[in-house]
Amino acid sequence: MIGSGAREHALCLSLAADPSVTALMCAPGNAGTAAVAEQRGVDQLDGAAVAALAQEFDAGLVVIGPEAPLVAGVADAVRAVGIAVFGPSGAAAQLEGSKAFAKDVMAAAGVPTAAARVCTTTAEIEAALDEFGAPYVVKDDGLAAGKGVVVTDDRAEALAHAQACDRVVIEEFLDGPEVSLFCLTDGVAVLPLLAAQDFKRVGDDDAGPNTGGMGAYAPLPWLPAGFVEEIVATVAVPTVEEMARRGTPFAGLLYIGLAVTSRGPRVVEFNARFGDPETQVVLALLDTPLASVLHWSAVGGVPPVLHWRDASAVTVVRAAAGYPGTPRSGDVITGSDQHGVIHAGTRLRDDGAVVSSGGRVLSVTGTGPTLAAARDAAYALAATVDLPGGHQRSDIALRAVQGQIVI
Ligand code: AMP
Ligand code: GLY
Repeated sequence: MIGSGAREHALCLSLAADPSVTALMCAPGNAGTAAVAEQRGVDQLDGAAVAALAQEFDAGLVVIGPEAPLVAGVADAVRAVGIAVFGPSGAAAQLEGSKAFAKDVMAAAGVPTAAARVCTTTAEIEAALDEFGAPYVVKDDGLAAGKGVVVTDDRAEALAHAQACDRVVIEEFLDGPEVSLFCLTDGVAVLPLLAAQDFKRVGDDDAGPNTGGMGAYAPLPWLPAGFVEEIVATVAVPTVEEMARRGTPFAGLLYIGLAVTSRGPRVVEFNARFGDPETQVVLALLDTPLASVLHWSAVGGVPPVLHWRDASAVTVVRAAAGYPGTPRSGDVITGSDQHGVIHAGTRLRDDGAVVSSGGRVLSVTGTGPTLAAARDAAYALAATVDLPGGHQRSDIALRAVQGQIVI
C-alpha cells in the first residue's frame, strides 16, 4: 500500500482482514497503518523507489492510494518491473490530473457534465465568468488536494482565484445533491461500488471553504431506483471506452463525482482513486474480501461479484486547528486506537504517543442497521476521541436521516 491518509488506513484494514493476504506493507503510512502493516519510509512520487520496495517485499499486488503518485506515473514504474498494480497509468490518471483533460474526455464520450471554458488569460477568464454568471465555479486545472475549486457569488473572489492558477476551468454552476460513485474497472468491465455522499465544506450547513471532505455516509436512501445502473451506462462505460480508444486504458478506480440536478445527473469531477472520506463508509459495508477485487482491477479477467452488508455507515472527519488553512500539528490524540477510528494525519512520536501531523487528522466511522443508528454510533465514538483544538462537522448525514434530501 502506498499512501498515508485515512483512505490508505481503511484499505489496509480491509486487506488485513482478507485471509488471502499473508503480509502487508504500507509506505509511508501513518500511526494507524503501523498497527496493521509493516511500515516503511518512501518518497511516494519516486516510481523507481516504490518499484524497488515492492520487489524487496516480493509484493503480489501494489495498491497506490493517492492521486499524486498516480499522476506522477508511479503505477507505470511498478508495472514495468512485472508487479501487479492497483491504480491507473500516469496517462490514464490525467482524468484527475487535469480538469481540462477530463472535460475533453467527457465531451468525446458524450458524458453529461457542466458546460465549461478552459482559460489562460484574464480576458478569457472574465469572458467565461460573465458567460456563466453567479454562482461562479472556478477550478485550478491541476491537482490541488481538494482545495483548487472556488464556488462563490463574489466575482472579485472568483477572478482572483482564477488569476492565481496557470490554467483554469470555469464552468456552469450545478445545483442539487452530490453523489460519489466509485467504479472499479480493469480497463474493460465496470464494477460499481455503493454510492456515497461526501461533505466538502468545512462547516455545518455547508458553510466555509471547500476541504478534502469532512464526512460521508452510505448508502444513500434518497437515490432513485436504477440510479447506479444509469450512471454506469451513461458515464462510467463511455469514459472507460473512450480511454481505451485513446490507447490509454483506465484500470483502477474511477471516482465519479456527480450533482443530481433538475435536468438529471451531471459529472462534477473525476478522480483516479478511492475518495476520502467516502472509502471509510463504502469499505465498512463491503463483505467481499478486498484483495481479490483490487487484483482483478489490476490484471483483468472475470469481474468478481460483490456482497454488501445490509447496513449503513457514517464517518465524521476530525480536522486539526487551522484546517483547511495551515493546520496545527503535534497535538497529542487520545482514544485513536479504537475500532472505527481511521487515521489520516497522525504519526507515532518517539515516546509512543499518537500526535497530529496533518489537516484531516482522523475519521471516526460508525455502522448500524439504519442510517440514523450509524450516525449515532459515529458521533458517539467521535465523542471518545480527543484532539486538542480539533474541529468536526455536527451535521454529517443529518439531512438524509431527516428525509430532507429531495431530487
Ligand atoms: P471538484 O474538485 O471538481 O470536485 O470540486 C470540489 C467541489 O466544488 C465539489 O464537490 C462541489 O461541491 C463543488 N463544485 C465543483 N464543480 C461545481 C459545479 N459545476 N457546480 C457547483 N458546485 C461545484
Ligand atoms: N472526498 C473527495 C475526494 O476524495 O476527492
